[in-house]
Amino acid sequence: MSEIYEKLIRCVACVREKTDFVPRVAVVLGSGLGDYAENIRVECEIPYGDIEGFPVSTVPGHAGKFIFGTVGSVPVVCMKGRVHYYEGYAVSDVVLPIRLMGLLGAKILFLTNAAGGVNTSFHPGDLMLIKDHIALFAPNPLIGPNLDELGTRFPDMSAVYDPSLQELIRQAARENQVFLQEGVYAQLTGPSFESPAEIRMMRTLGSDAVGMSTVVEAIAANHMGMKICGISCISNLAAGMTASPLTHGEVQEAADKAAPNFKKLLTASIQKMGR
Ligand code: HPA
Repeated sequence: MSEIYEKLIRCVACVREKTDFVPRVAVVLGSGLGDYAENIRVECEIPYGDIEGFPVSTVPGHAGKFIFGTVGSVPVVCMKGRVHYYEGYAVSDVVLPIRLMGLLGAKILFLTNAAGGVNTSFHPGDLMLIKDHIALFAPNPLIGPNLDELGTRFPDMSAVYDPSLQELIRQAARENQVFLQEGVYAQLTGPSFESPAEIRMMRTLGSDAVGMSTVVEAIAANHMGMKICGISCISNLAAGMTASPLTHGEVQEAADKAAPNFKKLLTASIQKMGR
């Protein structure tokens, strides 16, 4: 058994000592969604620090825990706070929480994030349904011996963001009058924001939004056969698209402002994801 798989199994066992809750949907809460727990009938919370060996985020606003509970009648586990590759963790640690939620029984992974808008028709505060992704310089989390216990060596990636889940989210947006952009999310490593030349490159390559998370998580979840969907909150237009420089504070502030709509859409979408 590989070290990575052994560590994962130890973390799963540690969670199972605390709860026997079986989630259907695993949700990663991005910037602005930190207080989403208000919308969950909470059954159990586990701070990441209570799970031996679990990577704990160092980013302000990302201090983390798992929240188990139900949204409507759908059992969910939410990650309040994620770890990012730029914090210095091995990419296998960055995706450990995703694999853990999969092993707890989650069939669906709902990824959310704050992202910079690359598409010139986007506006700060827009929500974007992720239709596909581009990994740019972020290492593939499947590099190394294949974890045969989880999935195959060469997983297909032709429909990572499940078309039927995309359709459910579109429906939820229509029913709740939430305006929804659609596009391709690109992950760079961060932690520096991009240069204007890099943003022009990314637009040429076909990305609509840019961020520092999500793609590696989607690759790991796809490997183990989870169904995946995702929404980005466009917190700002990317570098060079406006006259002002980018700050983390501004990104968080804009994400907080878009949060009410984001939460409404997330809740309505999850409720459609019951069996
Ligand atoms: N670039 C990268 N990541 C981000 C941005 C951005 O402009 N905004 C929010 N996350």
